[in-house]
Amino acid sequence: MTLGKTIDGKAFAEKLRGRVAVGVADFVAKTGRKPGLAVVLVGEDPASSVYVRSKGKATVEVGMESLEFKRPATISQEELLELVEELNGDPSVDGILVQLPLPKHLDDAEVIARINPAKDVDGFHVVNAGKLAVGDPTALVPCTPMGCLMLLKDELGDLSGKEAVVIGRSNIVGKPMAALLLGESCTVTIAHSRTHDLAGVVHRADIVVAAVGRPEMVKGSWIKPGATVIDVGINRVPADEEGKTKIVGDVDTAGAISHCAGITPVPGGVGPMTIAVLLRNTLVAASAREGLPMPEGL
Ligand code: GUN
Repeated sequence: MTLGKTIDGKAFAEKLRGRVAVGVADFVAKTGRKPGLAVVLVGEDPASSVYVRSKGKATVEVGMESLEFKRPATISQEELLELVEELNGDPSVDGILVQLPLPKHLDDAEVIARINPAKDVDGFHVVNAGKLAVGDPTALVPCTPMGCLMLLKDELGDLSGKEAVVIGRSNIVGKPMAALLLGESCTVTIAHSRTHDLAGVVHRADIVVAAVGRPEMVKGSWIKPGATVIDVGINRVPADEEGKTKIVGDVDTAGAISHCAGITPVPGGVGPMTIAVLLRNTLVAASAREGLPMPEGL
């Protein structure tokens, strides 16, 4: 029995943040200003507030300007669109991120559509989704799938010709992940809740990316021996101890580790990559806005 290794996303994310910090220093030397990331938080959802706080801290740590715009859950769609327009027109803002989900009375799609695609560091705007789909290298790419791709390339090197199965078809992870893997010349299958024989489909894969949001749904026995597994899931479930909870992924890690070559743990795998890639995307967007070449090593 081969025991797979744990893929340390936390360590990789730290290295990436270090490279971003070097790129930021170079940007500041060339332009005399810091790249700026504006994060908009509507309402007081505790999980969103935690994310926004860690994003702000990480932004400052790499030498960028962090601007936070907190608005009450009662904000109207028109007021939120006005704020987005203001940030679009603000020359000190290179990246705009509107934390999702928004309260139910607000229309996410309309808000995202209003963000200047050149400042869309989440890569959610249809212009960026379209650029990714046609392989335009100027696309801003969603942070989580970009982080997954970086981990895969670091583990496996050239991905060309590999069988990749992406489980989940969201616009935020599954679809852009599939486009990125296709861009690396993988043979890509997108599986989802209606897929027949998911176990059989997963068993074909050299690369499995699980992004379904269902705790430990992907069983260890489904994994082909020697495959590499990226677990995007973050699911809170009851812990063994009464009244406590814990975070698990979409993959049965304990079962998969004896089959696979490597697997990202939850927590400490994909999660830390997302913010690191957000910082990278902000520097990429800032450099493009200043007419500077793509920063090196990112
Ligand atoms: N909510 C959870 N993750 C994300 C993300 O990556 N971007 C945005 N905008 N909202 C989120």
